[in-house]
Amino acid sequence: MASQDEVFKKLVAHCKEYGFVFPSSEIYDGLAAVYDYGQMGVELKNNIKKYWWDSMTLLHENVVGIDAAIFMHPTTWKASGHVDAFNDPLIDNKDSKKRYRADVLIEDYLAKYDEKIGKECDKAAKRFGENFDKEMYLKTNPRVLEYAKKRDDVHARFVKALEDNNLEELRQIIVDCEIVCPISGTKNWTEVRQFNLMFSTDMGSTADGATKIYLRPETAQGIFVNYLNVQKTGRMKIPFGICQIGKAFRNEIVARQFIFRMREFEQMEMQFFVRPGDEMKWFDYWKQFRLKWHKALGLGDEKYRFHDHDKLAHYANAATDIEFQMPFGFKEVEGIHSRTDFDLTSHEKYCGKNIKYFDPELNESYTPYVIETSIGVDRMFLSVLCSAYEEEQLEGGESRVVLHLPAVLAPVKVCIMPLVKKDGLPEKAREIMNDLKFDFRCAYDEKDSIGKRYRRQDAVGTPFCITVDHDTLNDGCVTIRHRDSMEQERVKIEELRGILSHAIDAKQLLKKLMD
Ligand code: GAP
Repeated sequence: MASQDEVFKKLVAHCKEYGFVFPSSEIYDGLAAVYDYGQMGVELKNNIKKYWWDSMTLLHENVVGIDAAIFMHPTTWKASGHVDAFNDPLIDNKDSKKRYRADVLIEDYLAKYDEKIGKECDKAAKRFGENFDKEMYLKTNPRVLEYAKKRDDVHARFVKALEDNNLEELRQIIVDCEIVCPISGTKNWTEVRQFNLMFSTDMGSTADGATKIYLRPETAQGIFVNYLNVQKTGRMKIPFGICQIGKAFRNEIVARQFIFRMREFEQMEMQFFVRPGDEMKWFDYWKQFRLKWHKALGLGDEKYRFHDHDKLAHYANAATDIEFQMPFGFKEVEGIHSRTDFDLTSHEKYCGKNIKYFDPELNESYTPYVIETSIGVDRMFLSVLCSAYEEEQLEGGESRVVLHLPAVLAPVKVCIMPLVKKDGLPEKAREIMNDLKFDFRCAYDEKDSIGKRYRRQDAVGTPFCITVDHDTLNDGCVTIRHRDSMEQERVKIEELRGILSHAIDAKQLLKKLMD
């Protein structure tokens, strides 16, 4: 069986071969950690964005959207803390000349102890069978206890070093834990240094005195600086939310794992403005709602978990990640943060204007507290693809590569195929397509054998194929073939719209979120 690593490599190659994701400016050998979405990728991405946007704005009458500019007044980033505190602690290996995030090296080291404990449990579960009491085992087994103690000791040091911003101690942990460079295998490390992640550029010509501006590292600030505009013009009452989808830019030094960590990426963020004191109630609400949103897609409930932050960002008083089980481990896909009144208070200070909310029910003005949900479109895209990709062994020794994409997200919903390229079958197939194409994204394919055409659609995750044959001209029926089961059934042409609508119904998905 192929390892997770090999499967991931194949998935990356598949994304390129079938028009999902290309390296940026590939004819010039690409640009590190920057990617372009192809004809299939953009459809999948748009479907993810629509699912998110509708779940926020249709299901919550107190959530509205905006589309703010990428360039913002440079003081925005001073006020938000990004100029001073948006840093990664970096360390270099002197032998391989590779650069790493010191915190990620330590987190990976800690995760290895969890893996070891997991393996001990699996072995014991096999040995003891039905009588296995996992909780008791975790509390009493000497080897597990030893692993847990080592992990907890390092973890405590790690958290303290992050809290104190103690770079020397971070390095010392790496040295003490004997963490080696994955490339050179040596422990020959440099000091740990802070590195600001914002890209900057100049606005205006130098002669006029150009202003240094930043490419936004998060979309959230576009919402904060507009919150009063939206509140007043939309007559919004607290609690209310503003959401936005847009590009963000970070000069990631350790850019790894394909589109997981990019330098230009897209975020779907929402800021939810609440009364001070109500923030934990809403933090819990959005945590649960966002997890439901993920699970409703049916990628597998066991692939998600919450991970509370060890080190809170400079603006937060509570934060958790929703992690997804990627082939390279559980990784953050979304962050849910209680950002307090940090951003608004700071903007008020820097701009010198009153941006408080007047609460008519309390008859008083205050600075709202904010709960943020922030998900990366690209990471979501990757999680969907990772769970969808399968190299399936079929009966008779054959195999196929299939993307089991949730039907609502699939780039193409249905492919219409005449059995042969003659006898009026292409015309009939076109007629069916012309009728369906206003409701569903359709493809048309008349080249090669039907088997090959099915495989092409499986590879891009098309949930349905419709074949028009000679009988169709007489009985008005077609064969509909289901991607996952590969089952085929004969149905009347008039029934097609109903069958497809039922299977690809975004409404049903949204309704699940209201249960
Ligand atoms: N406004 C809060 C914020 O930006 P974050 O945890 O830094 O919080 C939120 O980012 C989400 O954006 C992450 O959970 C991830 O999905 C996505 N993201 C962050 N950096 C990314 C990168 N370099 N490449 C791709 N996605 C990224």
